[in-house]
Amino acid sequence: MTAHPLESTVAALLAPGKGILAADESLPTIGKRFAALNIAPTEENRRAYRELLFSTRHLNESISGAILFDETTSQRTGLGESLPGVLISRGIVPGVKVDGATIALANFPGEKITRGLDGLPERLLRYRELGGRFTKWRAVIAIGDGLPTATCIGANARLLALFAARSQEAGLVPIVEPEVLMDGNHTLARCEEVTGLTLQAVLAALIGHRVVLEAMLLKTGMVLSGKECPQQAGTKEVAAATLRCLRRAVPAAVPGVVFLSGGQSDVAATERLNAICATGAAPWKLTFSFGRALQDAAMKTWHGAPANVAAAQAALLHRARCNGLAVQGKYSAEAERAGPPSGTAK
Ligand code: 13P
Repeated sequence: MTAHPLESTVAALLAPGKGILAADESLPTIGKRFAALNIAPTEENRRAYRELLFSTRHLNESISGAILFDETTSQRTGLGESLPGVLISRGIVPGVKVDGATIALANFPGEKITRGLDGLPERLLRYRELGGRFTKWRAVIAIGDGLPTATCIGANARLLALFAARSQEAGLVPIVEPEVLMDGNHTLARCEEVTGLTLQAVLAALIGHRVVLEAMLLKTGMVLSGKECPQQAGTKEVAAATLRCLRRAVPAAVPGVVFLSGGQSDVAATERLNAICATGAAPWKLTFSFGRALQDAAMKTWHGAPANVAAAQAALLHRARCNGLAVQGKYSAEAERAGPPSGTAK
């Protein structure tokens, strides 16, 4: 069988020992993260922060790709280089979050769908011209009393499949992200059940829409106990439930599964990723596509001050390296303790 033209981008994103940096927070989301640190939510601060992330020296040793928000695709460094260009020149593949905000699913209180299909073909063309090689669309599934409903799962699965088909048509690798939220007091078993049902529906929709499974990536959460569940599952249990759930729902034709961090602490996310990857028994490549678990320490260190850029880059590089070790099952407490390297400034 001839390889699909998008498979080389897939292979670059799944390079051994590397993962994806999700830096695609929408304006309200990055605004919230900045507000928690008293950083003004200005366009200049967002630009400076993302320049800091992307220009971190040695980042490409553990980061294969970065997901950008629309605004970032047309921003430039202080020296006039485009931010996607900064990534490309360092061998990191740029991608773009192409979904819009989530909106309430009519008639289904507490449930949401994701918008963004309007004008999508035109936006995809623009992102490709700007150097983008992949895209992402996130759907959210909440667990609660009577939630999620089959209607909500089905509507989101269909939207994800429509997005993925459009993305492949435009020559961009889709990252299909159905996120089952950690919020709530549900058990690990309930998370496994809901994640399984969601993934089965999403895969069926993708196949129904003739999405080429070999030319996409699946982005999912780990199977975890709900944040407020009194019985928090241990790392080994999380790894076993996550792998069992994925094996039951995701065909081996999907080349890679990349994990979001979803609100776990950065160290917990790395430990669990390591446990999942250490089993070495998966038919797909497994890696990370973390937002908060890669960025939290860096953003906190930066705090909006130019004087903190080098230290913030060191914090980002440390987390990227720890996660790069975790995907090889080689992360350890010693690696964590080694701490941020010095001298990471551009
Ligand atoms: P988190 O790792 O912070 O969950 O972000 C990943 C992401 O891309 C969410 O869409």
